[in-house]
Amino acid sequence: MNKVNQVKEQIHRLKEQINHHNYRYHVLDSPEISDAEYDQLVCELKQLEEEYPYFLTPDSPTQRVGAAPVEAFGVVEHPYPLLSLGNAFSEKELANWYTRTLRMLDDEQVDLVCEHKIDGLAVALIYVDGKLVTGATRGDGFRGENITQNLRTIRSVPLSVSRDAPARFEVRGEVFLPVAGFHRLNQERAREGQPTFANPRNAAAGSVRQLNPRITARRPLDIYIYMLGYAEGKAVPDTHWDRLEYLKSLGFKVNPHNARFKSIKEVEDYYQRWINNRESLPYEADGVVVKVNSVTRQEQLGSVGHEPRWAIAYKFPAVEATTRLKEIAISVGRTGTLNPYAILEPVKVGGVTIKQAALHNEDDVRRKDIREGDWVTVRRAGEVIPEVVGPIVSKRIGKEKEYNLLEKIFDKKKGRPACPVCGAEVIRPEGEAMYYCINTACPAQVQHGIELFVARGVMDIRGIGESLSSTLLNEGFIHDVADLYSLKEKRDALMQLEKMGEKSVDNLLAAIEVSKNRSLARLILALGIRHVGGEMAQLLASEFEDLDDLKNSSSERLLEIEGVGPKIAESITKFFAQPENLKIMEKLRTAGVWPKRTPTEAAELPLAGMEFVITGRLEAFSREVAQERVKGLGGTAKDNVTRNTNYLVVGEDPGGGKLSRAGALGTRQLTEEEFLALLEEKRRQ
Ligand code: IVH
Repeated sequence: MNKVNQVKEQIHRLKEQINHHNYRYHVLDSPEISDAEYDQLVCELKQLEEEYPYFLTPDSPTQRVGAAPVEAFGVVEHPYPLLSLGNAFSEKELANWYTRTLRMLDDEQVDLVCEHKIDGLAVALIYVDGKLVTGATRGDGFRGENITQNLRTIRSVPLSVSRDAPARFEVRGEVFLPVAGFHRLNQERAREGQPTFANPRNAAAGSVRQLNPRITARRPLDIYIYMLGYAEGKAVPDTHWDRLEYLKSLGFKVNPHNARFKSIKEVEDYYQRWINNRESLPYEADGVVVKVNSVTRQEQLGSVGHEPRWAIAYKFPAVEATTRLKEIAISVGRTGTLNPYAILEPVKVGGVTIKQAALHNEDDVRRKDIREGDWVTVRRAGEVIPEVVGPIVSKRIGKEKEYNLLEKIFDKKKGRPACPVCGAEVIRPEGEAMYYCINTACPAQVQHGIELFVARGVMDIRGIGESLSSTLLNEGFIHDVADLYSLKEKRDALMQLEKMGEKSVDNLLAAIEVSKNRSLARLILALGIRHVGGEMAQLLASEFEDLDDLKNSSSERLLEIEGVGPKIAESITKFFAQPENLKIMEKLRTAGVWPKRTPTEAAELPLAGMEFVITGRLEAFSREVAQERVKGLGGTAKDNVTRNTNYLVVGEDPGGGKLSRAGALGTRQLTEEEFLALLEEKRRQ
């Protein structure tokens, strides 16, 4: 085949692929590839079409915004098409966009607005004489689906607005399912034996595009309005920012994290800040949308195809990809849990190649019906270990193997399932989803225990990584965490180890010595008691004098502590009932690792001692989430204003009682904005 025919063939193939994925994404709400991979295909096609323009046809998927609407809903024509956005994947691409924009405007600077690009579903809402009359999906940009009845069920969509509003206007926004609601929905579906959604976006789209609005109504959907489409019969502000403020005043929900900037440097900072913090958001965001603020300037810039020149999506590094799952293997965790994990065909996610991913537990694998040989979606978000989201069932060829843990660890010689590391017996406690190796001396358990003990934020002993801890264990230098403190007696022998010169041994011993002074909270955390994480360790350290005091406390006393439930109390009691653990404690005491509660212990967290009460609706998150944030920073959240209340956070439609009581007591009041700023400031401390 000659070159031109080859290109033609390639374009044809790409078009077919993209059309197929468009259909899966927009119509079936069940994609087979990640957004990043989809973008990649479109990018390839665009490049070819640019290079060989005579192959560019009007029906090319690069020439339209989404998929055609589903007939069953009825069609809504968009008088002004709903545009899509061009992407920038690097600082350089963003800078290029900005330079081009300035050049076209023949200017040196232009004001910009940054918003989160929420991963949901674009909708248009039309209001006539103050009433919501039509709600539609984007569809192909020109014609969308009429989903008015469904959108009416979303509580943050105003059904009517002030009569002062323009006689007829359209707003556009993103409907989404908060991450917490998404997990709840999937759990519920799994319990009912229904297929789960791959991500919040699919769940939101699947919920909104329901022929039965009652189903939509049961889903905890939310919306952020991100622009005014058009307005008739009344003048509206002439910048994007002021329009959003105006829409807010009409009762629309606008993202409080939106920000206005005067330079591209500030945009870059905003983007970096949110890359690092995006996990803390209640919704999924896949980038930052950067928009030219002045509407006149926007009109001057216009659009190319279906992408405006006045806005761009600055994408966060991808978090999802698809690949083949080669095998399900089993590792032994710190508490003896047998954890299935996936061995993958290596795949790049956000610039990092991943070969393994977590599968959580037995039930999870079964529930998601993940099989060996399956094509799967994997996800790597923030610092978390990559996880397998679920299989792509449509790609099965029939050769995939269902997974069974007991079969995998069955030891033929012993005639029973056995721990894959030490061969000990395996049990599954009633009501639990995990199997456990019963041997607390199992090398895998001990090694993970050491890794936790030395970790940053715990006893913080630099210089002991995975490989040294396993050497120390295997060579018999240590048998448990407390033995670390007697390593100084083995200085000479340590120097004989591979890669351990005099200097690194001395550094290590010094680091171990320094760690003796860590706080009680850190030591409690370092013990690795099940269900006792960082926050719980802090709480316990503020209640108990030292490890003896904690050890001797009865379940009753533990349960009296606010925040300690039966599960945690039982786990603590069990921990101190085990002779091996008591032996470790004694060794620690002898070594001088015996911190006492310090008066500052409770005050280690930035909001310690601060009591908050929240009244009214908050825009950024639900009251429960707000309370969690406060607690996460060491503060307390109460329901009623008392003398002890430090701050009353006042949301929309606040309760009159709390307000007047706070007024009478002179309690400091915070607007939502001030509250968010305070959290942000404290979080940085
Ligand atoms: S502005 C012309 N702002 O991203 C401007 N879009 O690829 C078009 N999206 O269809 C949209 N958050 O579904 C805009 N703050 C935001 C957004 C946002 C999410 C989605 C929207 C749109 C797609 C563009």
